[in-house]
Amino acid sequence: MAAASRKTLCFAAMTALVLIGSVLLFFLYFEPPSPVCPTSPPLADEEMYEAEDHTEKPIVLLWFWPLGVRFDLNSCLPYYNIDSCVLTDDRSLYSKARGVIFSHKDINWELRNMPQEPRPYFQKWIWYHAESPRNTLRIPGLDNLFNLTLGYRRDADITVRNELIIRKTEMKDDFVLPKKDKLVCWIVSNRAQSTGTGTREGYYYELSKHIKVHLFGSGFTGSRLNFDDYYPTIASCKFYLSFENSIHRDYITEKVNGPLSAGTIPVVLGPPRADYEQFIPSDSFIHINDFPDHKSLAEFLKYLDSNDEAYMRYFEWRKHYIATPHLLTVEKEFIQPFCLACDHMSRDREYSVANDLYGWYWS
Ligand SMILES: *[C@@H]1O[C@H](CO)[C@@H](O)[C@H](O)[C@H]1NC(C)=O
Repeated sequence: MAAASRKTLCFAAMTALVLIGSVLLFFLYFEPPSPVCPTSPPLADEEMYEAEDHTEKPIVLLWFWPLGVRFDLNSCLPYYNIDSCVLTDDRSLYSKARGVIFSHKDINWELRNMPQEPRPYFQKWIWYHAESPRNTLRIPGLDNLFNLTLGYRRDADITVRNELIIRKTEMKDDFVLPKKDKLVCWIVSNRAQSTGTGTREGYYYELSKHIKVHLFGSGFTGSRLNFDDYYPTIASCKFYLSFENSIHRDYITEKVNGPLSAGTIPVVLGPPRADYEQFIPSDSFIHINDFPDHKSLAEFLKYLDSNDEAYMRYFEWRKHYIATPHLLTVEKEFIQPFCLACDHMSRDREYSVANDLYGWYWS
């Protein structure tokens, strides 16, 4: 190469460098007037998250429709007055979702139907399950995978139950007992021994030798009770057998809430009395363990049947607390847990991991 052209090249390179440098400097130091940059200055990721926190409702993604059952995702406001979050089933919002809900029964054995993309650092995975441990498959690989638990246990991160509500003021004595034309009733659909129902069926058979039990539901009668008949049927009985299918800590289901809200005394079979008393007043129910045998329970029920004053004492709690009827259809069953989880995510701020999921659930 000739010396002259080398000089020219060198000059051109120098000029280019100076130009690039000044352009860089321009962008480094030049503050554009506001119309050029109408939005607020970019924030670091963490700051962005903080800023969004106060203004935007968190997105909570339902990864599966539980058991394939769909319901209206706009149900949180009409049913539970919850408007603090956005519940969606749109998986394309995964990377923005603050919470993702997984129902245990829908997770497949090799976790192949779980999200494959990495989890955003702010996102919490929520494990939802409503069955007792007895009726729970131990899918491997679920420890250290979720951040929050959602279920009936009092010590779940998000507890879903039919809670009694405290009245604002003591109610005057205006409870009217529904008209009763039956003594003891039981609505039962599930009789599959594999789900642990043997205990309650055994108890029922022995009890029915001493007192008549009116049976409803597909389990014994072969025909399903209509949803519309559920509350009226329970209300028409003096006692209702609130027998859980399996016996576990805190596993006290809508089978108790039904009679409490209908105005009937629940006769419970489930965890020990002390467990029930964490959720409902001690004088609102009869526990089978309070009696040495079936015969003495039957005799006690007959005694209450003939003694109105003693019978009515089981409704004293209504002066102070309100039992709310639970939603009956399968679709509606899921509205409460998912809306509560959604609402929880509008307040959730702390890092958390559900490390020993099964250890906890079986404890
Ligand atoms: C959620 O749990 C996962 C798995 O243990 C963990 O890696 C992640 O950091 C947790 N995230 C939050 C926001 O707590």
